[in-house]
Amino acid sequence: MHVYIENLSKHEGKEVTIKGWLYNKRSSGSIRFILVRDGTGIIQSVISKNESQEELFETADRITQESSLILTGVVKKDKRAPGGYEIIAKKLLMIQEAQEYPITPKEHSVEYLMPLRHLWLRSKQQNAIMRIRHELIKALRDFFDDRGFICADCPILTPAAVEGTTTLFEVNYYDLKAYLSQSGQLYNEATAAALGKVYCFGPTFRAEKSKTRRHLTEFWMLEPEVAYIDLDGIMELAEDMTVYAIERVLEKRKKELQTLERDLVKLEKIKKPFPRITYKEAVTIVQKKEKGFKEGDDFGAPHETIISENFDKPVLVHHYPASIKAFYMKRDTEDDTLSLSVDMIGPEGIGELIGGGQREDDYETLLTHIKKHKLTEDTYRWYLDLRKYGTFPHGGFGLGLERTVAWICGITHLRETIPFPRMLDRVYP
Ligand code: 4AD
Ligand code: MG
Repeated sequence: MHVYIENLSKHEGKEVTIKGWLYNKRSSGSIRFILVRDGTGIIQSVISKNESQEELFETADRITQESSLILTGVVKKDKRAPGGYEIIAKKLLMIQEAQEYPITPKEHSVEYLMPLRHLWLRSKQQNAIMRIRHELIKALRDFFDDRGFICADCPILTPAAVEGTTTLFEVNYYDLKAYLSQSGQLYNEATAAALGKVYCFGPTFRAEKSKTRRHLTEFWMLEPEVAYIDLDGIMELAEDMTVYAIERVLEKRKKELQTLERDLVKLEKIKKPFPRITYKEAVTIVQKKEKGFKEGDDFGAPHETIISENFDKPVLVHHYPASIKAFYMKRDTEDDTLSLSVDMIGPEGIGELIGGGQREDDYETLLTHIKKHKLTEDTYRWYLDLRKYGTFPHGGFGLGLERTVAWICGITHLRETIPFPRMLDRVYP
């Protein structure tokens, strides 16, 4: 019977068949230890040289790393074996002999591994990261689904900028120019008016001009949008969602987190409430370490790191100057220079995980800001309509999936948080 390695413990004492690849092997005298992986786990099989299984031993001797194989044997509990079980092999069939697999069990540099990403994904660490990413996506969707949000997808091909015109990827759209979506937000606002509470989850694109460890040119964003919510409500939603997702990953993916040697205590501390500070208060924190930082400037990666060092939970920074935020941000009625915006800055120097806020809901004000940002009014006609036909207070945010995966996994560079990263200098493989 074909069994996946992750389910082997349910088949103790029984004969099973594993279909996979050779992960590694070692030999000791007349014994061969082969490690087989099938994507769900790794299992050890011990094969000793004796007359009754000469062919089996010969195959074990000959088989190379990453050769595809089918192994049949009996599942045995063994405390010494990695994972607590091993297989007493009866048959080993090599499907294809892989020759000179370029990733050996020794350490390789990331520069070497990046062009081999299609193979690198087979490693134990990358497998763990992908499983955590999957769990996080599932948890985030469950969070919103359980609360009555409707997933309403937004287009990828769009006529307009959301987050400024400097990071747009332009594509030919027949006789027109179109852009790859930077964010589904504007469309979310329309579906929120239609459905009340919505979210979209999909790839977003930014032609980032600099090479940093926190920026991909293609990344996945989860964006909720809610009708009749205010800034406090948005912050609470972000906080509840984050706590829920972390709890789920801790519950379901402890083994993978351990594979990555993640400090679990740090994640276990992620409980409500998260600190909430104004942009002004954040500036004071930054200026203690960096005297030259000017109030009114946007925070860069080093500033976010300084802010995060003061907390062991994500921190919600709100009320940024309107001048450093996007055109759609609603202004504070008490101080027109401030926006009803919020960024959630993650701990351990991971940087901004979430950006969002309340949207400008007054037709004339929004039109003024569109003009001020030198955006073409015509492309935003439909968006302005939302303020013309039953305008409503609303808001939401976008969570960067890869930043969140990086934080949870305790890795610093986003390139390992997505199966095939796209960066300034990489579109291969
Ligand atoms: O702060 P941003 O630009 O916000 C928006 O796009 C809003 N329109 C979302 C909304 O309100 N619906 O991006 C949101 C998040 C950031 O906090 C960050 O986590 C991630 O997206 N992000 C990136 N992740 C990887 N690579 C990049 N180049 C990223 N740019 C933003
Ligand atoms: Mg942002």
